[in-house]
Amino acid sequence: MADIDSYIQRALDANPLREPLLRSVIKALHLPKGSRGLDAGCGIGLQTLLLAEAIGPKGHVTGLDLSSAFLHYAEELVKESDLAERISFQEGDLGSLGFDDDIFDWVWSADCVGYPAGDFLPLLRELRRVVKPGGMVVILAWTSQCLLPGYPLLEARLNATCSGFAPYVRSKQPELHFLRALRWFEEAGLEKAEAKTFVGDVQAPLSDDIRRALVSLFEMLWGVPQPEVSQMDWAKYQRLCRPGSPEFILNLSDYYAFFTYSMFKGKVPG
Ligand SMILES: C[S@@+](CC[C@H](N)C(=O)[O-])C[C@H]1O[C@@H](n2cnc3c(N)ncnc32)[C@H](O)[C@@H]1O
Repeated sequence: MADIDSYIQRALDANPLREPLLRSVIKALHLPKGSRGLDAGCGIGLQTLLLAEAIGPKGHVTGLDLSSAFLHYAEELVKESDLAERISFQEGDLGSLGFDDDIFDWVWSADCVGYPAGDFLPLLRELRRVVKPGGMVVILAWTSQCLLPGYPLLEARLNATCSGFAPYVRSKQPELHFLRALRWFEEAGLEKAEAKTFVGDVQAPLSDDIRRALVSLFEMLWGVPQPEVSQMDWAKYQRLCRPGSPEFILNLSDYYAFFTYSMFKGKVPG
């Protein structure tokens, strides 16, 4: 339960950073008004809400996740919005969806397919199966960040072992890495595969929400001491990234940071 609560807290903390960027991805997709979509691996439903907003009052989004606890939280979140009629949730595994063929106009999956959920090909084939001919499959994931301006080498060393993503990519074959998704779109029979990277950025002065999001991100990425990180780097990380430290980097009057999401999309033939 503690894990679930801390995941939920982290998702809420990170949302002020992620939401503007993810809104720009959704805007770029031009989802048809009145369309029906699936948010695969929806977590606590933060993007299910954004997707439902984009498709208008006649559209519908189904949020699907493995975790009943996340879905329960998502249901409560949606009840508080004015979008509840356009949204429903279903517990399930995106490797084996409990839906008929060709029922959605599009599928969206953020920070899930290939990152870290399973191998691409069977998942993409399953997502493709439930999308109508002419519809779209979209997957996206957080792909990079530059959060310690002025300390590129320290940041590179911390990233090389970071607890936030190193465990997911360490033993992955190169062709199964998220940034190789174009190949899997082609193999899954999706047409017109396209990749695009979106950037989010923040600069001083930082709002309280953004400060909280960045502190939570520092902790998530680098907060667990890794054996490969030298004592000197670890001490510097703590001085730069812990609130209360005289060197806390978010107190810089010229603080600037950015991060990226990479999106892959493809069309179901027909
Ligand atoms: C990192 S979270 C991302 C949640 C949400 N898409 C977001 O971006 O806020 C990954 C989510 O995928 C879900 N997940 C992982 N594997 C899954 C699977 N095979 N089927 C359905 N959901 C899955 C997890 O339970 C978790 O909620």
